[in-house]
Amino acid sequence: MPPALHLWGIVTALLFSFGALHVSRATQVDPAILDACPGYNATNVKVTGPTLTAKLVLAGTPCNVFGNDTKALNLVATYETETRIHLKITDAFNTRYEVPESVFPRPVRDPTVSVQRAEIKFTYTVAPFSFNISRARTNEVLFTTAGHSLIFEPQYLRLKTTLPPAANIYGLGEHTEPFRLDSTNTTRTLWSRDAFGIPTGTNLYSNHPVYFEHRAGGGTHAVFLLSSSGMDVKIRGGGNSASSSPTTLEYNVIGGVLDFYFLAGSETDPAEVARQYAQVVGTPAEVPYWSFGLHQCRYGYQNYIDVANVITNYSAAGIPLETMWTDIDYMFKRRIFTMDPDYFPTSRMREIINYLHKHDQRYVLMTDPAIAYLPGPGQGYGPYDRGTQLDVWLKASNGTSPSLGVVWPGVTVYPDWFHPQISSYWNEEFNLFFNPQTGFDIDGAWIDMNDPASFCTYPCDDPFAQAAAQNFPPPRTSPPPNPNARIFSDSTLTHSKRAAPNHVGEDLLNPPYAINNAAGVLSDRTAYTNAIHANGLVEYDTHNLYGTMMSVATHDAMLARRPGLRTFVITRSTFAGAGRKVGKWLGDNLSTWEHYRLSIAGMLGMASVFQVPMIGSDICGFGLNTTEMLCARWAMLGAFYPFMRNHNSDVSISQEFYRWPLVTQAAKNALNIRYRLLDYFYTTFHQASIDGSPETSTFGLDLQFFFGDSILVSPVTEENATSVSIYLPKDRFYDFATLAPIEGEGQQVTLSNVNFTTIPLHIRGGVVLPLRVAGAMTTTELRKTGFQFVIAPGLNGTAVGGLYVDDGERIMQRKTTSVKMEFAGGKLSVSGSFAFDVGVKLVSVVFLDVGCAPDVISVDSGKEGKMNVPFSYDPVTKVLWVQTDIGLTHGFEVAFSS
Ligand SMILES: *[C@@H]1O[C@H](CO)[C@@H](O)[C@H](O)[C@H]1NC(C)=O
Ligand SMILES: *[C@@H]1O[C@H](CO)[C@@H](O)[C@H](O)[C@H]1NC(C)=O
Ligand SMILES: *[C@@H]1O[C@H](CO)[C@@H](O)[C@H](O)[C@H]1NC(C)=O
Ligand SMILES: *[C@@H]1O[C@H](CO)[C@@H](O)[C@H](O)[C@H]1NC(C)=O
Ligand SMILES: *[C@@H]1O[C@H](CO)[C@@H](O)[C@H](O)[C@H]1NC(C)=O
Ligand SMILES: *[C@@H]1O[C@H](CO)[C@@H](O)[C@H](O)[C@H]1NC(C)=O
Ligand SMILES: *[C@@H]1O[C@H](CO)[C@@H](O)[C@H](O)[C@H]1NC(C)=O
Ligand SMILES: *[C@@H]1O[C@H](CO)[C@@H](O)[C@H](O)[C@H]1NC(C)=O
Ligand SMILES: *[C@@H]1O[C@H](CO)[C@@H](O)[C@H](O)[C@H]1NC(C)=O
Repeated sequence: MPPALHLWGIVTALLFSFGALHVSRATQVDPAILDACPGYNATNVKVTGPTLTAKLVLAGTPCNVFGNDTKALNLVATYETETRIHLKITDAFNTRYEVPESVFPRPVRDPTVSVQRAEIKFTYTVAPFSFNISRARTNEVLFTTAGHSLIFEPQYLRLKTTLPPAANIYGLGEHTEPFRLDSTNTTRTLWSRDAFGIPTGTNLYSNHPVYFEHRAGGGTHAVFLLSSSGMDVKIRGGGNSASSSPTTLEYNVIGGVLDFYFLAGSETDPAEVARQYAQVVGTPAEVPYWSFGLHQCRYGYQNYIDVANVITNYSAAGIPLETMWTDIDYMFKRRIFTMDPDYFPTSRMREIINYLHKHDQRYVLMTDPAIAYLPGPGQGYGPYDRGTQLDVWLKASNGTSPSLGVVWPGVTVYPDWFHPQISSYWNEEFNLFFNPQTGFDIDGAWIDMNDPASFCTYPCDDPFAQAAAQNFPPPRTSPPPNPNARIFSDSTLTHSKRAAPNHVGEDLLNPPYAINNAAGVLSDRTAYTNAIHANGLVEYDTHNLYGTMMSVATHDAMLARRPGLRTFVITRSTFAGAGRKVGKWLGDNLSTWEHYRLSIAGMLGMASVFQVPMIGSDICGFGLNTTEMLCARWAMLGAFYPFMRNHNSDVSISQEFYRWPLVTQAAKNALNIRYRLLDYFYTTFHQASIDGSPETSTFGLDLQFFFGDSILVSPVTEENATSVSIYLPKDRFYDFATLAPIEGEGQQVTLSNVNFTTIPLHIRGGVVLPLRVAGAMTTTELRKTGFQFVIAPGLNGTAVGGLYVDDGERIMQRKTTSVKMEFAGGKLSVSGSFAFDVGVKLVSVVFLDVGCAPDVISVDSGKEGKMNVPFSYDPVTKVLWVQTDIGLTHGFEVAFSS
């Protein structure tokens, strides 16, 4: 979070175009017609402790816009904690779909909650019923439905709030929009979609129906609609200035119930609302230390030799490669859980994986959900046969035969993640195929196409014809390789039943209100929305959960393979709460400068709003061809994504970092800094896993962000440019490269001569950074490298920092080291718990902005007594270097006296 958010101004939108690629299919409806609906009157209002219940009855003549108005509703509003109100509106007489608890466990309520002490309050009017959520201390209205009729119909729910002019709204993703959404004319459609090229203005892979709103007075609160139904959230406003007419935000939902969580956030600390949201959706999973290393992938590695060569070339170029990945290329006829015997022979692939492991490197393979539909005897495709035996496929609307789609292998079935046998099925397939003894010992899993995607266009009446016409599976275009090729020869190498909501009479394929799905009708290029799950739920309701459910199943399968160890799973489609188990990449972006820039907003959305902090964009871009300059800049920006992976498409030019001298140098420079900062970042990530504190942020800025809470990253944003105008808040900063202090004035500063192998970084004053003294070729080697603490005092001359170290792998840690560093009055005090043996020493301490050379520097560790240590001082940069060489096994002090 920026230290003073309200000073940050709003820098957005201008660079981005809206809607250029999108086809509007939304139902056009005159807002006046909706506002003229009768709404409901509240009756039978009862208050019991922190809970208010009421019956809402239709207030007048039904308007029946997209179906018949529901006559009576139940309202329950509960103060769940002193910062959270839960408000739920359901059909009083019919069971309607709600997001299952098995997929989204409900947050814990505080049984001792005091309504009087609550920071937000719920008020309402009776006729017509409307409600407000306000900040208790100031009475500021945060959400109000006054003047906007509530509409509740079987396939259409509408609820609308008035917000301040030019409201500051963040979230409602996944999207390729500015981080701060345009408040004058934005429609955010939530409906998972295979969205090649991630076009701006359209629905993408993931669904996070939450927004954070920042108010001019300084407060930041959140509104979360727990719904997996398709929806359009329409934000309309009179303009972008404070004197414009108000903004409105309108939910248009095609099913389910209205299930809102209102979070008070805080009036002063913008990070607080993220922590409160984490209490609702869960805190992010801790990831293995190694997963912060560099990942390399591409679609289009033709055979095992390509894969081996990339590994070799990275080593030869001296660029640290932590993890090699392989896309669907490895599969036999694009069938999951198979390895092509001619192109990726099992023995050779096992050799590659062993080689990687021997060199402390890792391997990841892609898995899609769709399974090739190969019925009948003699096909010999175990994954299909075993799943059929267990009957775990998603069913067509008649509930008997499987729902068919077309994916990479041709006609496919889809695993039903609600089936009671699905986890044994998925665990078993992972155990068989990824078996360390007989199969492919992957270190992480990559799951794709789980929106779920289909190549079958609606109506998908004959998937066999469509698969044939579109040539799936695509034939190989290169001859098979020599199965006995020499690899790694370079000697220079250094290293159930229907209990479901009633949808009778509803059109599940083409509901009367058509959301603005850029793919077309709901079932276009995905599983049919009338397909039925084992528990009777229909895809219409659960579509937006498919990717997240596959994520959990894959996390569990990986955990079963390596019990006790943290998993590393990267998915394409997520729903609220996915970050508890998995990370995500931002999908199939393009090698353009626009997508390079927009990747920052995409990352900030996932990391600082949606609680999916293990996030990154494909570095250098996936689709289209990159350029040397773009790839160099992107290698450096990507070094500050939490998840750092270079990946591109099969028809693009190769873009591994070693392909161009400039990119090689840029990647080496940035990776060196990333690796030196890895423990600092790991420490913030650990904090996020405990309380949801965002580990990367900035509200209001789209082109700069904080990596952790103290490193301001300001990449050059334009092609050919060697300068960048950055915003420096009114505070003390230090140039990361020179360590020279800079006073932020709360305005733009132009940095020039930023060459193509440099990325501008600033340390925020007031922190103690725990750095490694040098980078390394692997994270294993990095962990054997000593520490250096950099003390960057703030304006008042003090600094604080933390360092958390554990073994980097286990879920349950028996011994951890958690250090606190505090600097004031010329003295650094290091204290904490030191149970985990970090194995290396604090080699040096670097004090910044020291006025004059001290006479003496001493280290006092209590135990070993006080001793003077060598130092050097540079009067020009005012940097004081102190050689400490002290073990990180106990507390100590480093003090200088002049
Ligand atoms: C709002 O955005 C939509 C979609 O991009 C566009 O078609 C429409 O013209 C815009 N309306 C206004 C008033 O700008
Ligand atoms: C709802 O309240 C309004 C205003 O009091 C009243 O005119 C109307 O008759 C009520 N509707 C019903 C169904 O009670
Ligand atoms: C709406 O209600 C009318 C009258 O009660 C009924 O005839 C009609 O079938 C209903 N329409 C739908 C879509 O349920
Ligand atoms: C809700 O807020 C609106 C707008 O500020 C205000 O006019 C109305 O009186 C409030 N209603 C309640 C019940 O607090
Ligand atoms: C069920 O529906 C599927 C897909 O529409 C169809 O292929 C199949 O023949 C149907 N089965 C029965 C028993 O009607
Ligand atoms: C990318 O470059 C390759 C090789 O030069 C070329 O064949 C291809 O057409 C290019 N793709 C695009 C989208 O320009
Ligand atoms: C960058 O420079 C190249 C080569 O001179 C030129 O083709 C390209 O148009 C320039 N790009 C921009 C955005 O000016
Ligand atoms: C790029 O700039 C950095 C920082 O100013 C400098 O250290 C480096 O030598 C420069 N590289 C080239 C190739 O000029
Ligand atoms: C110095 O400033 C920091 C950050 O603004 C603050 O947290 C700290 O309490 C201040 N310390 C003193 C001694 O004023």
